[in-house]
Amino acid sequence: MITHIVGNRPQFIKLAPLYHAIEAAGYQQNIIHSGQHYDENMSDIFFEELGIPAPYVNLSAGGGSHAQVTAKAMIGLEEELSEKRPALVILYGDTNTTLAGAVTASKLGIPIAHVEAGPRTHIKTNPEECNRIVTDHLSDILFCPDAVSLENCKREGLGEKACLTGDIMYDTYRSIARRREKDEAVEEEEEPVLMTWHRQENTSDKERMEAVLNLVERLGSRVLCPLHPRTKKCLSRFGLLERAKAIPNLEIMEPVGYGEMVRLMNRARLILTDSGGVSKESSFAGAKCLFMLNLDIWEDLMREDWLHRVDPTDEKSVEEALAFAKKAKRVAPKDRPGYYGDGHAAEKMVRALEENGLIG
Ligand code: UD1
Ligand code: UDP
Repeated sequence: MITHIVGNRPQFIKLAPLYHAIEAAGYQQNIIHSGQHYDENMSDIFFEELGIPAPYVNLSAGGGSHAQVTAKAMIGLEEELSEKRPALVILYGDTNTTLAGAVTASKLGIPIAHVEAGPRTHIKTNPEECNRIVTDHLSDILFCPDAVSLENCKREGLGEKACLTGDIMYDTYRSIARRREKDEAVEEEEEPVLMTWHRQENTSDKERMEAVLNLVERLGSRVLCPLHPRTKKCLSRFGLLERAKAIPNLEIMEPVGYGEMVRLMNRARLILTDSGGVSKESSFAGAKCLFMLNLDIWEDLMREDWLHRVDPTDEKSVEEALAFAKKAKRVAPKDRPGYYGDGHAAEKMVRALEENGLIG
């Protein structure tokens, strides 16, 4: 039995193609949901839309601090994995669910495959960096989304277990975007800015959140923002939700499913985000990206200024960002960067698992 351990929105999106590729290859598999994300539009909607079967168990680990979520997930995982003893667990990305899966499976001697291994921000206090380093070092096979990630693995002595498969999010994006091609053609005319905002670094203090809102207001053009529940709660806690709702060019909405997200990305003129996933998807969708975190991410995209970093609390950085935003136009498919594979990462992962004797 192969067990996928997931719990967060981006993990459901990464799980879909690999689940389907493993199914096509005829292996038995099941899914454990940590419960880290639990709202209907942060979890169930992705299973339905992407045709993933329901997890056989939900550990209800969501809603607490880092330690609480990680510990609760570890306790539930220890119970499940000890009882079921899968031949392999598959972990995704860099969340507390990933970390809990890595530590628990490793101590039980269950082999681990890590999807989206190798990205590094080089900032140890970044929670995702901690989770990814631990998971990469405890895993038995590492699936790297791009060449930079593979190099990072080699630099840390992990080269022997790392393979460059391309980015699995591109598999999912492509399969959904194909279905949506018609919409894109029809809606070419309208090109708003798409915004997502949720990272701890941008939601933990009031001044920073105010600075993000000021940046949005100064962008001037129409900004659509499916708002992460964390951010909504933080805006509310700091008394900023009404201020956000009053910004004339900002349209706040509930988080959307992946089909709708692809539609929004495919018609955006610019993406403003602090999301690791969305900042990369901007290159699939042909919208340049203002990235609101002061850390290295997707270095190839940063090097060619597809991804432009902005610090909303720094006036000079904001002015540069506004100039970047003013110039940004949709980019035709033939001119989009191509660092993230060919949309067949999942099949490569299945083959690598077989070749390394981890399944089969
Ligand atoms: C987590 C990941 C982050 C990832 C993000 C994807 C860690 C350390 N962080 O951040 O890397 O980018 O998921 O979206 O694992 N909440 C709800 N409903 C939900 C989910 C969350 O209300 O369905 C609220 C809760 O108040 C919760 C807070 O959001 O406490 C934060 O959720 P959490 O899962 O801890 O972190 P994210 O910010 O979602
Ligand atoms: N996403 C979505 N609906 C939304 C916001 C994001 O489907 O309302 C998708 C997005 O396109 C990407 C993934 O969720 O595929 C990214 O998740 P998130 O930004 O929560 O996490 P991160 O990538 O930062 O870990």
